[in-house]
Amino acid sequence: MDEYVLSLDPSKRSADTIDFQTALGAKIVGQKEGVQALVELYQVFRAGLNSPGRPVGNLLFLGPTGSGKTRMVEAAAEILFGDPRAVVKVDCAEFQHSHEIAKLIGSPPGYLGHRETHPLITQESLSASHTDKLKLSFLLFDEIEKASDALWQLLLGILDKATLTLGDNRKVDLSQTIIFLTSNLGSGEITDLMEGGMGFIQPKDKPAAGLDEKVERTAVEAARRKFSPEFMNRLDKVVVFHPLRREQLQEVLDIELGQVQKRVLDTANGQFLFRVTAAGREFLLQEGTDQRYGARHLKRAIERNVVYPLANLLATDQVSLGDLVCIDWDRSHNRLTFAREGEGALIASPTAQPGGIAASAEAKDGKSIDAPAEVVQEERKTRVAQPTAAPAATSQARKKQDRSNN
Ligand SMILES: Nc1ncnc2c1ncn2[C@@H]1O[C@H](COP(=O)(O)OP(=O)(O)OP(=O)(O)O)[C@@H](O)[C@H]1O
Ligand SMILES: [Mg+2]
Repeated sequence: MDEYVLSLDPSKRSADTIDFQTALGAKIVGQKEGVQALVELYQVFRAGLNSPGRPVGNLLFLGPTGSGKTRMVEAAAEILFGDPRAVVKVDCAEFQHSHEIAKLIGSPPGYLGHRETHPLITQESLSASHTDKLKLSFLLFDEIEKASDALWQLLLGILDKATLTLGDNRKVDLSQTIIFLTSNLGSGEITDLMEGGMGFIQPKDKPAAGLDEKVERTAVEAARRKFSPEFMNRLDKVVVFHPLRREQLQEVLDIELGQVQKRVLDTANGQFLFRVTAAGREFLLQEGTDQRYGARHLKRAIERNVVYPLANLLATDQVSLGDLVCIDWDRSHNRLTFAREGEGALIASPTAQPGGIAASAEAKDGKSIDAPAEVVQEERKTRVAQPTAAPAATSQARKKQDRSNN
């Protein structure tokens, strides 16, 4: 008999689930518990074992602002559906008054404005993310602590029964949907916990023993105080996102700069490469991150200080196809500088110079910065490019300067 017994491995995941996990882990820094929760739901859905008559999963994401709660949902949508916006998103702050619920589900026939209302949650909007292989949808309720009573009632029904009745009585089935709810309740208390040497801007910080648990307890207690037990009981999992530490913020910066590089390479003409020196990165981190807002302003800081100037350089033909641009920090003016290190050498093209690739590879390791000026001039034709029309970047620098003068 025994020879027929085969020991099984219930922790083994399918190849596509592992791919999903790897891809999500590459886009989201830290927040392992959130990644894990989503991956588990995905595996259950793929196996067809999600319970009928319920959403595929109800996940509550808690934690401070700028820690990746919304990004997690967008990143998963990007991986699974090919578009980060393939999420039906309800900003609960927009539905604080009970009558505004009509924007969500449409008003009943006969009501004023019935024809003009386009409900946000419909079967069509949910199935927009469906692909041939994957009939899954994401519904995100952001900032649920701001929801009106009417929205709460609606939410309780959805979380439990996975159906929603629209104003005109059409039914929406949410049994193929993962419902995400986010809130930064307890955020202020968490920031207080992190202060005093444990924040994220200090170098070489290490989370103090037990801090992670304290952060989790603080967030969950804040949620239990605010939300009713019947709501909390309908959740499959509550995930607490942790404030990002300094080295994690650096990783987020690398991911974001990678996205910008991708955008540059996707331009119709003038695909070039850029690199940002350590000092340049430090400047961007200072501009775009802080203890209170996490990585919330990082994108904006990158747009202002990197993307706008690069756009100017491209539009004024100061950089062109195959160039390597080095972005550094100018301490005296507290702004970024842009220099062309390699010319027409990085992207294989019929016009590329034979020696160019070696020169740019060398330039990439950062040593070229220290080379004698005339050698650099001669060998690599380094030229300081002028992102002249960069009003946002310069006014930003000026503002900073003003601040430090005061
Ligand atoms: N853990 C993370 N991994 C990768 N990127 C992150 C992470 N956290 C934040 N970011 C970056 O910061 C931006 C803001 O994060 P996000 O919108 O997810 O914050 P949030 O936690 O939803 O905050 P809020 O509570 O204010 O809505 C993201 O678009 C992303 O660029
Ligand atoms: Mg958010």
